[in-house]
Amino acid sequence: MGAARGPGLTGTKFGCGEALCGACTVIVNRQAVRSCVTPVKDVAEKSVTTIEGLGQAGKLSPLQDAFLKHSAFQCGYCTPGMIMNAYALLLRTARPTREQILKHMEDNLCRCGSQTRIVDAIQEAAAGARTGGA
Ligand code: FES
Ligand code: FES
Repeated sequence: MGAARGPGLTGTKFGCGEALCGACTVIVNRQAVRSCVTPVKDVAEKSVTTIEGLGQAGKLSPLQDAFLKHSAFQCGYCTPGMIMNAYALLLRTARPTREQILKHMEDNLCRCGSQTRIVDAIQEAAAGARTGGA
């Protein structure tokens, strides 16, 4: 018999495994959390939202839509973590300034050089009160 399988949620990505890149970011009780360094026992009884929790079947959330509109990715590996971290910001600050977005997102790394378009997408989602989500 094989090992027990999870629910098949493949959106959250594993990158550095050392809390350095943000690829694994999920939301725990409305806060961005790096899941690679978070023991399961620490999220027991808490609300955990992954990228799959945004939007609805067949319909992207407005934040996801803004990423698509701005082509805010190339390989897409960093994208779920970027969107979840941005979502955490918009939960707390509905209309952040560009400087606030840059500060909040600075520890999420994109190896493809999409940072400027990522910030543009977040700014547009914020400006349009288009946070959408879980
Ligand atoms: S995998 Fe890089 S921060 Fe978690
Ligand atoms: S789009 Fe490739 S790492 Fe960001």
